[in-house]
Amino acid sequence: MYPSFLVHSLLLGISFTSNTYAQSLYDSVSDPTKRAEFALSRLQIWYNSGTGLWDTTGWWGGANVMTMIANLAKIDPNNAQLQDLARRVFANTIVQAPAKNPQPGIENETKRRRDVDPGNGTFTLFNETGLESGYTKILNPWGVHEPVTVFPLGWDADEGQYVDVQSLRNFAPSSKDAATQAALATTPNPEDWLDGFYDDDLWWALAWIGAYDVTQKIEYLQLAEGIFGQVTKAWPTRCGNGGIFWSWKKDYMNAIANELFLSTAAHLANRAQNKDTYVEWAELTLQWFLNSGMINDQGTINDGLTEGCANNGFQTWSYNQGVILGGLVELNKAAPNDTYLPLASKIAKAAIEKLSDDNGVIHDVCEPGCGGDGTQFKGVFMRNLQMLHEAAPDDAFTDSIKTNADSIWLNNRNENEGNTLSVVWSGPFVSPANASTHSSAMDVLVAAISV
Ligand SMILES: *[C@@H]1O[C@H](CO)[C@@H](O)[C@H](O)[C@H]1NC(C)=O
Ligand SMILES: *[C@@H]1O[C@H](CO)[C@@H](O)[C@H](O)[C@H]1NC(C)=O
Ligand SMILES: *[C@@H]1O[C@H](CO)[C@@H](O)[C@H](O)[C@H]1NC(C)=O
Ligand SMILES: *[C@@H]1O[C@H](CO)[C@@H](O)[C@H](O)[C@H]1NC(C)=O
Ligand SMILES: *[C@@H]1O[C@H](CO)[C@@H](O)[C@H](O)[C@H]1NC(C)=O
Repeated sequence: MYPSFLVHSLLLGISFTSNTYAQSLYDSVSDPTKRAEFALSRLQIWYNSGTGLWDTTGWWGGANVMTMIANLAKIDPNNAQLQDLARRVFANTIVQAPAKNPQPGIENETKRRRDVDPGNGTFTLFNETGLESGYTKILNPWGVHEPVTVFPLGWDADEGQYVDVQSLRNFAPSSKDAATQAALATTPNPEDWLDGFYDDDLWWALAWIGAYDVTQKIEYLQLAEGIFGQVTKAWPTRCGNGGIFWSWKKDYMNAIANELFLSTAAHLANRAQNKDTYVEWAELTLQWFLNSGMINDQGTINDGLTEGCANNGFQTWSYNQGVILGGLVELNKAAPNDTYLPLASKIAKAAIEKLSDDNGVIHDVCEPGCGGDGTQFKGVFMRNLQMLHEAAPDDAFTDSIKTNADSIWLNNRNENEGNTLSVVWSGPFVSPANASTHSSAMDVLVAAISV
């Protein structure tokens, strides 16, 4: 079904002659950049050119894969093939992925303004849009309350279709090809990227900011601004007169959506024209977040709030310890305040303490049976820890990133599957791995390049 790994390896300029080596051969690869490049060769086999997404990562997971690729492209600027791959992926995904939005149109404000808050915290939703697709996200009621995404029936029916990235259009303005011209003439529509779950929307906003950082293409930044602008309509919740809900259902206030809102605003403040507006949003969100009680006595962050607006004591998922770090780093850059980096470092250290095993390897409590959401979390933490380390270097951060990268490479990699990376970073390899587990682990390999 797929051509050999050789093609991909050549594509990235890596010498790779067979995928049947004994495990030990790749164990000796210790150059972080090479590790990440090998892993990228494997990752792209899941890239589905027809959908612009990576098969098995779902919808918002795709945004995280894109962010990771953007980070790798930023940190490895001299690898021409990687630069080309990243650009072609962004250019293809921006055209193809909107068709896979699992619930388009649901956030349309003009149609939803009859939502009623009777004052007791229960919003009545009028189903007049006919746009509910069955896409939803829930906290698994069993055990650890893991967030779980439910897709509309048949959503992921697409078979993976390998294509050589070289065959993807790169949408160069000089091209005479009609499809390229049509794609270039179309301005990306932020509404195409909204699905009713504000965290999903904002993962995509951050992904397009990453693409902008790599390419300086203004359309990508404008798309991120457009998505953020739509999500501002979700402010405020009924708690503390601020914050955003998890979704259009207005039934849960959680950490992830609000951390992403803060981080996206802060990223935009450093890139877009309306700097002051974005700084204001970021500061407002931070203030609300700090007052919300989601940061607990140990300095880690729980999943969300109760109906009564108190910390619900749910899991301290790794991604909730991560997104806020990058948000604080970017906000400190846009509007410095002596408290931001110390706060970020305090959260990061508390998280490393809470989530690491005796060998320093990070875990989420859903392991080894994490669902498609839980498999993404740890990479998000590491990606943001690296951002913090750049702004406020600390040996504890370097140690954590290096320890986890080494453990992933030595204990959590299946060489017989072309160096696939799985979900339990301390190992042993859990089968089957997929693009979600693989890309999340790649976040660490990428972070390790710069520490
Ligand atoms: C939202 O509703 C307005 C008014 O009905 C309509 O013009 C617009 O196309 C809708 N947008 C989407 C994405 O459905
Ligand atoms: C909230 O108020 C509405 C309207 O009065 C009522 O129908 C609903 O049952 C109430 N919900 C709760 C959870 O009390
Ligand atoms: C909303 O309307 C659509 C189309 O009429 C229908 O398919 C869907 O089941 C409805 N959703 C709910 C929650 O009633
Ligand atoms: C710095 O940030 C903290 C926390 O958000 C805030 O309470 C304080 O007012 C800020 N200081 C300045 C000078 O803006
Ligand atoms: C990807 O792997 C995770 C962890 O094994 C699993 O929960 C998830 O369902 C997989 N995704 C798909 C689409 O198979």
